Amino acid sequence: MVVRIGILTISDRSARGERPDVSGPALEEAAKAWGWQVTCKGLTPDDLAMIRDTLTLWADTDKADVIVTTGGTGFAPRDVTPEATRLVIEREAPGLAEAMRAASFQITPHAMLSRGLAGIRKRTVLVNLPGSPKAAVENLRVIAAALPHAVQLLREDPQAERGH
Ligand code: MTE
Repeated sequence: MVVRIGILTISDRSARGERPDVSGPALEEAAKAWGWQVTCKGLTPDDLAMIRDTLTLWADTDKADVIVTTGGTGFAPRDVTPEATRLVIEREAPGLAEAMRAASFQITPHAMLSRGLAGIRKRTVLVNLPGSPKAAVENLRVIAAALPHAVQLLREDPQAERGH
């Protein structure tokens, strides 16, 4: 199945035009290499309401099967991506975040500083990834193999049985 992915970069500095967004394009390149389709892309500052509203709009208008955010998961006072995501998700999917942190911890002890969440709204999976391009792609790579089956289950695709 072709996974439709939405990529939302969350960065004050990129939103102000002070720094190019490199994480969004890095995720896009990885997703395309897996044969996924990038159906929406965006950039917001670290603003709770803007993050919440963008995620809600994309999920409710069925823009993508999976929406990933990059950035704003750390400990800085402006890092509010998990708080915004918590307002949007209807059901948590902690296994995705647990898997990403466990695998990332083998790469860097700083993995425990990502507060990223994962969950479901309607038929869309939402996942918070860290902000650096390296960390974002490393984390998405951890869960990439499980996401097509997650999407099949969410979409009640009869093919989903085959994945068990
Ligand atoms: N995970 C992986 N796989 N690789 C990394 O380099 N960096 C960590 C962590 N997760 C990292 C990672 C660091 S340094 C931080 S501070 C947190 O993600 C949060 O990043 P964010 O504030 O950019 O969202």
